Amino acid sequence: MKIAICPGSFDPITNGHLDIISRTSKLFDKVIVVVLSNYAKANSTFTAVERVEMINKCISGMPNVVADLYDGLLADYARTHNATAIVKGLRAVSDFEYEFQQALTNKQLNNEVETIFITSSAENMFLSSSVVRQVCKFGGDISRFVPPVIHDEIIKRIRS
Ligand code: PNS
Repeated sequence: MKIAICPGSFDPITNGHLDIISRTSKLFDKVIVVVLSNYAKANSTFTAVERVEMINKCISGMPNVVADLYDGLLADYARTHNATAIVKGLRAVSDFEYEFQQALTNKQLNNEVETIFITSSAENMFLSSSVVRQVCKFGGDISRFVPPVIHDEIIKRIRS
């Protein structure tokens, strides 16, 4: 069985993330969406458990996708879950340097796992969790940025 990991902070998950997850699910037998800590992003808006719960609501229609959280190295998680690929979305050239560094680091830590990049869909090129948080915070419409199933709880949390 070919297992892929879609890792990220997912604070919160967006339509851009879901597009990558959905497309990955068509290429692999099983996809694990893992919420991990990014030490460059000190304060998260949602707890890790809340982020996993939101992901679970969004992936309910994808039978070969599961969500999890892990407080450790992605390379170690991949090893213990027999994953052969880490799949990430690339939005623009500006993503590349950071993602390339992460991919090479993960390869050093776990030589058995390959990082694969999927290009973002054109309509999601601008989209990120921080865009969602900012637009939401200042009263903008986020309905095109996040799935309806988590739309209201994001607004409730960020505007409270
Ligand atoms: O959505 P993000 O914030 O770009 O995702 C980055 C993430 C969480 C995948 C990355 O920071 C990560 O893998 N964190 C876990 C710790 C780790 O393994 N870091 C990579 C080696 S420095």
